[in-house]
Amino acid sequence: EFYSMSAGIDKIAFFTSPYFIDMTDLANARGEDPNKYLIGIGQQKQAVIPPTQDVVTLAANAASSILTPADKASIDMVILGTESGIDNSKAAAIYVQSLLGISKRARSFEVKQACYGGTAGIQMGMDHLRSHPTSKVLVIASDIARYGLNTPGEVTQGGGAVAMLLTADPRILVIEDKTAFHSDNIMDFWRPLYRREALVDGHYSNNVYVDFFNQTWRDYQNRYQLAIDDFNALIFHLPYPKMGLKALRSIVHESHHPTQLMAAFDAAKTYNSQVGNLYTGSLYLSLLSLLANDTMLKPHDRIGLFSYGSGAQGEFYSARIGDGVKPDDLRQQLNSQLNNRRQLTIAEYEALYETSLPLDGGDRTFDTRTDHSPYILKGRIDNRRQYE
Ligand code: HMG
Repeated sequence: EFYSMSAGIDKIAFFTSPYFIDMTDLANARGEDPNKYLIGIGQQKQAVIPPTQDVVTLAANAASSILTPADKASIDMVILGTESGIDNSKAAAIYVQSLLGISKRARSFEVKQACYGGTAGIQMGMDHLRSHPTSKVLVIASDIARYGLNTPGEVTQGGGAVAMLLTADPRILVIEDKTAFHSDNIMDFWRPLYRREALVDGHYSNNVYVDFFNQTWRDYQNRYQLAIDDFNALIFHLPYPKMGLKALRSIVHESHHPTQLMAAFDAAKTYNSQVGNLYTGSLYLSLLSLLANDTMLKPHDRIGLFSYGSGAQGEFYSARIGDGVKPDDLRQQLNSQLNNRRQLTIAEYEALYETSLPLDGGDRTFDTRTDHSPYILKGRIDNRRQYE
């Protein structure tokens, strides 16, 4: 009875920067055929994160739109998954909890394993709810993906946060206690402490991703005796949209309804193709894309979620669509946010890319007049970040 309790995502929200660049502009500036980026990678636009946003403000901005005063009073766990942390000691979750006025009677901490941190947070939150069913758990996946100007990874940058409130009797997604995971010591992507940009073995990372997907998918099927036709949609961590497509193509022949799974995948990449890689949040932005844009899904349908974090950790788990999904509302919220962004020229993007808090720890105050987000980073004084 303990484990058959229904729990999962009751509310979900996304936030990204007010700026983006167009991938045709980037391709032209880098001397590439635009179709390599638009079709080969599957990316149309990319969020550009200004220095006035960090993983704390992105996370606070995402969560602030869904939390009521009653939620803030009853949340007793705040988990922030990120691989773009601002401190090796203090958790970004503590700043977010304070900015949002969440109850202090909470466990508040950060988790890291590349893009897998959000899923680690969700599974920890689920375990907590199974033993404390009246609790509410806030899980936020927040990141800024940076590879560097003029690198092959540049087209796969992006950033933003997805905030999820986990409860018993959730309206959005009922997470099943069915999962399979796999980890191994792999040097496909990493970011040593002395670097602001990731190091990546790009083509190798693609191969490891598909391999981990197949391993966890087989393990899941063997454990629970479920086949691909027991799923109405499969969604993926999307470092870029074509990556998930490669994984789906590796197993879609097992289905009697491959066109349905392909159509669901097209819905599930909608917002990712406008924002880029969110690292920890990418799978959950894909979930939002699916819920908002798929026209076939019904309450109680089963979906499969593949989470991947380089280094590497993979997990395939399943969930059922909740009774309270409102696709029109989700679409309206996401579209209004994404359509109100300002397009930057490549020169403006390159200038913002190089602007940051001084790496030697010095003081700095940013010009915050152009960033109208609810929470912003004003700068740093005396080694303390100044949030507003
Ligand atoms: P690249 O070498 O510049 O690109 O890097 P390419 O030559 O492989 O081309 C890409 C695709 O475009 C290919 O398609 C080409 O055929 C196609 P594919 O064969 O792969 O299906 N193409 C064209 N299509 C149409 N018209 C054209 C054209 N030209 C070429 N004219 C790469 C690509 C993804 C490797 C690079 O961007 C990169 O290194 N990105 C970063 C790493 C990454 O995203 N890896 C994904 C798996 S690892 C992961 O997901 C974890 C991660 O999120 C980090 C974490 O966990 O924290 C990254």
